[in-house]
This record gives sequence, C-alpha cells and structure tokens, in this order.
Amino acid sequence: MAEHITLTIDGERASVEIGSTLMEAARQMGASIPTICYHEATTSNGLCRTCVVEVEGQRLLQPACLVKAAEGMKVRTGGDRVVRARRTILEMLSSTMDLSEAGEIQEMMDEYGADQGRFPGAHRREAELKDDNPMYVRDYSKCLLCWRCVQVCADDAQYTFALSFDGRGFETQIGTFFDRTIPETTCVLCGQCVGVCPTGALKHKREHLLEQGMSTQQISVLNTGRKRRRNG
Ligand code: SF4
Ligand code: FES
Repeated sequence: MAEHITLTIDGERASVEIGSTLMEAARQMGASIPTICYHEATTSNGLCRTCVVEVEGQRLLQPACLVKAAEGMKVRTGGDRVVRARRTILEMLSSTMDLSEAGEIQEMMDEYGADQGRFPGAHRREAELKDDNPMYVRDYSKCLLCWRCVQVCADDAQYTFALSFDGRGFETQIGTFFDRTIPETTCVLCGQCVGVCPTGALKHKREHLLEQGMSTQQISVLNTGRKRRRNG
C-alpha cells in the first residue's frame, strides 16, 4: 500500500500519497488550480506559473504542478497574492502574444479579471505562418512557450525529437533544429504536438484550410494531387 503524508490545504487536513504534487493534493481536496503549461501527458517544468500557490514559511509563491507535497505543509491556493500573481501573468501573456484561439486561457482571463490593455507598450511576439508540410501549420505568434509540443515529440511520448527550442529570454522560440522545414526533420507527422498545443499555434492543415475558406472538396482535390505527386 502507498505511504501517505498529511498537509493542510486551505485550512483542511489532506492525506495524500508520497510523491503527490501540491496540485494533485489540492485537486483531491476539491480546490481548483488553473494551469497552462501543465498537461497530464507531459513532464511539468513550471514554466507559466499560473498554478502558483502560497506555502507557509516560503517567501516565493510555488508552482503547484511541480512542487511535491510534504508532511505538515500549509498551503493556500487562492489568497490575494496568488490571485494577483495569476492575473498579472495572464495580462503579460495577452499583451505579448495572440490568444485569440486560446479559449481556456480567455476563460481564465475573465475569471481573474485580467486587463488585456494593462501593458500597452509591450513588444508583441510576431511570426510568419509556417506552412511546410501536409499535416499541420505553425503560427508562432500564438505560441506561449509551454514546451508541451517539444516534450510530446521527445521522450514524453513520440521519441522523435523533431521539435526543439532556441534562443533566450524574449527571443526564445520553438522550432526545428537549424529552422529546417518539417519534411527535412525526423517528424513522422503523428500530430501529437497539435493535440497538446493550448493556443492554436499548431493546427491541423485541414482545419486551417477550412478557415481560409476552402471547401472540403477543394481540400480533397489538393490532397489527391499531393499523393499523386508523392507516388508518381
Ligand atoms: S507551439 Fe503550442 S504546444 Fe508548442 S510551445 Fe507553443 S503553445 Fe506550447
Ligand atoms: S501550470 Fe504550473 S507552471 Fe505552468
């Protein structure tokens, strides 16, 4: 039987398995914690910090998706400080990138009363749409650098290592090694990266073409032509 530890979440005693994260402990107690970079299929890296909580005795807010619960911890999941931090993160994100297709994040912004215009002079992340393969398109102006796609392409799932990240600070970006086109990489077009992307930065080609106004028939003709060229 798994060993347990006891901690306090929002004033309630919680007993959780050793190794549980604060987020797992909080959810077990019915507390809701917002997440952006966390995904159950990928390793947590604590990148976005929307999941932060207060832990008594610790100066900094702690990312609940990453920090393990410990015996006797006292955790607050939704005090003023936590709410302010989450709201500010959402405001910074919305002022630097295109969240128009990130429905869950938009809902979070409403819930936390985030002001999209709080940082009007912020430098926005701009990028040209990359349309270089038959399966999906990449629009990195919508990328919030959660790394989910990189990890699912690597040893969290596919072991293909076609996607990576590059640069530092604001210049950090997701892409392929040496910025190669997707067909020039090890990508096997599995589509798992598209499935875990929270913002629409990665999108199935068919969905993209439908949004561009093409009919399903035109898309079929396009795909048939492509197959013929490939086989012929
Ligand atoms: S492309 Fe999507 S999944 Fe990949 S890092 Fe950007 S937002 Fe995350
Ligand atoms: S969800 Fe925990 S740091 Fe992003």
